[in-house]
Amino acid sequence: MKVLLIGSGGREHALAWKLAQSPLLTKLWAAPGNPGISAHATLAALDPADHAAVLAFCAGEAIDLVVIGPEQPLVDGLGDALRAAGLLVFGPDRIPARLEGSKGFTKDLCAKHGIPTAGYVRVSDRAAAEEALGHFGLPVVLKADGLAAGKGVIIAETAEEARNGLELMFEGGFGTAGECVVIEEFMTGEEVSFFCLVDGETVLPFGSAQDHKRVGDGDTGPNTGGMGAYSPASIFTPELERRALDEIVRPTARALTEAGTPFSGILYAGLMLTPDGPKLVEYNVRFGDPECQVLMLRLESDLLGLMLAAARHELAHVAPPAFSDDAALVVVIAARGYPGTPAKGGPIAGLDAAGATIFQAGTALRDGALVASGGRVLGVTAAGASVAEAQRAAYAAVDALSFPDGFCRRDIGWREIARSGPAGL
Ligand code: AMP
Ligand code: GLY
Repeated sequence: MKVLLIGSGGREHALAWKLAQSPLLTKLWAAPGNPGISAHATLAALDPADHAAVLAFCAGEAIDLVVIGPEQPLVDGLGDALRAAGLLVFGPDRIPARLEGSKGFTKDLCAKHGIPTAGYVRVSDRAAAEEALGHFGLPVVLKADGLAAGKGVIIAETAEEARNGLELMFEGGFGTAGECVVIEEFMTGEEVSFFCLVDGETVLPFGSAQDHKRVGDGDTGPNTGGMGAYSPASIFTPELERRALDEIVRPTARALTEAGTPFSGILYAGLMLTPDGPKLVEYNVRFGDPECQVLMLRLESDLLGLMLAAARHELAHVAPPAFSDDAALVVVIAARGYPGTPAKGGPIAGLDAAGATIFQAGTALRDGALVASGGRVLGVTAAGASVAEAQRAAYAAVDALSFPDGFCRRDIGWREIARSGPAGL
């Protein structure tokens, strides 16, 4: 089986690491990849936005399966183009990818099918938006409709912040993503990420995780793509998982199938565990980054076998994915300046430290030496009998490597460790 993996981040390094362990794999390519991924795959200098080039590459190398890591190519319809050419694809087509690509699409689907989520209105001009604001309490949540690299959400604490937020969105502060805005009710509770392999109406749970979006310790400072994560999230009990499956994920999969646009791939439900039960915050149509890193460390099943089953519409006939009982935790090391402009070119060394698996994200080779080339640079990932043990192992590896231009949070996993109390330490 020849596989092409699209993407170049820490998520894709973790996928490449796991795919490379598959007995089904004969050759792994990655496009464009990164230096860490090149340990498991041959890199191809392809632009995923150039569908014709990706198609030509697949034909030339007799690729069997294409695994699409990031959301942008999915929302752009790379999956449709590859399937039309007869290739197997892990990842949804353009229309089901709107679950992530359009917040309004998802909210309307939830409303139509009674899927629990925050109450909302969709507005496309500022006057209507200001009028609608009057129907919401405070805080209120404003979301630019389209993909905005995780930055399209404003939680306004005051009416003035809400008005300023609307002005920013309608005046192009989020590009075309802000041409349509969703205003929604603020939900309270703890957030968890719940992953499911989906193939039409077949849904196989693929584990839970919690991530840390803020840049600073104690969940302070600006939002980022994610500064760390752990899996599983013990707050997401089997009972809550059953409710999330029955009330949220399965009805979504059914609705898309009935509409003639079935979902195929990994569906990542961002859930709020409210006093009334789990409610949907948002969907993503790909693995989370860095949640993928901890899921891959815990996954015992053959990833390629599962991806192939989804791509071939055979998910109903495979054994559910098996995960280690161990916990896993990832600490992201970012380059100074992130989530603003990150410092580039900082030297990195000592990645072979024992006790952790280090996934690379924003790295590059300069004169044969590894340097930083992006915001999130490394994902130091470790397992342990508890989140506390995994945390100890991950930070030991963080402290053993050398990346003077990098920084990380020192409290990844704090919620879970606080929950388990001193006995968990
Ligand atoms: P999203 O991009 O939709 O995930 O939103 C980013 C973050 O904003 C989420 O992870 C939540 O922490 C927060 N958020 C989004 N929608 C709501 C909501 N309705 N109530 C409370 N917090 C929210
Ligand atoms: N870590 C959040 C995300 O991948 O969207």
